[in-house]
Amino acid sequence: MKKIGVLTSGGDAPGMNAAIRAVVRKGIDLGLEVYGIQRGFEGLMEGEIEKMTLGSVADILQRGGTMLKTARSERFLTVEGREKAISVLSTFGIEGLVVIGGNGSLRGARDLARMGFPVVGIPGTIDNDLNYTDYTIGFDTAVNTVLDAITKVRDTSSSHERITIIEVMGRHCGDIALYAGLTGGAEVVLIPEKEVNPNDVAKKVIQDFNKGKLHSIIIMAEGYSMSPFELAEFLEERTGKETRPVVLSYLQRGGSPTMKDRLVASLAGAKAASLLKDDSYGKTIGVENGAIVVCDLEEALEMDRTFDEEMFDLIDVLSK
Ligand code: F6P
Repeated sequence: MKKIGVLTSGGDAPGMNAAIRAVVRKGIDLGLEVYGIQRGFEGLMEGEIEKMTLGSVADILQRGGTMLKTARSERFLTVEGREKAISVLSTFGIEGLVVIGGNGSLRGARDLARMGFPVVGIPGTIDNDLNYTDYTIGFDTAVNTVLDAITKVRDTSSSHERITIIEVMGRHCGDIALYAGLTGGAEVVLIPEKEVNPNDVAKKVIQDFNKGKLHSIIIMAEGYSMSPFELAEFLEERTGKETRPVVLSYLQRGGSPTMKDRLVASLAGAKAASLLKDDSYGKTIGVENGAIVVCDLEEALEMDRTFDEEMFDLIDVLSK
């Protein structure tokens, strides 16, 4: 393999730039030509492709977002879209592709692989929702952003003796809520994987205030069955305590990546370039027990999702 491409797709995540930098610089070191594809699969179908140099990726390691831009593409979900993508890649003479993204993006990569195109995936999403890997690039930075918010909200929440509901990202996966809830000392965590009755939330909050707590912090993943506004109204009525919702939204996707995200991104990017150089593809990079591992892409995407129920239970114990 002589020419490879790299793209980022789906929601951006801090550390994507570090991964791009590693693919480009390791690829060039291995004697490959590396092409940057703009705006994910959408830009690929449009031929928005440029040759990268060592200098193209200077000064991006510490930046959030993605220098290649990103998109969610409906058109790529069709066979015609993917055929177009493969024809564009062959026009540029690109023989292998690194796809950096979350669940939907790696499924897109797998669909290209099924059509015979050599791809390697890198997990990049703040959600940590890929079943086959312990870790996805961007998660640590996002959780640290949420922790910062919890610390600030805690000050005002205890001054006013209020309940504050912080909504965090995660439509199908509660990991951001779970990890930020445990490490931020939240009283309650609400996630899509485990239904909790709002009456039980109200009961817990009242008990906590009766025990002398000055505030109550509830971390809610966006995939929970109620919105933070609905729950705030419900809790005010049930507890008689002022309740404020805070929606962190896209704040969680920005910011300079933490050491962990830069490290995993750098190792994963370099590994992806090496795999393609060695004509090894249909793979995706993962993290297992802290080490970088290479998994079969098809098998990786078939694995069932589990969530850490022990961690969920521990939040309750430690917030007593
Ligand atoms: O996939 C990452 C993610 O940040 C989710 O947590 C969130 O639900 C979604 O993206 C938001 O996507 P969009 O950028 O399309 O609004």
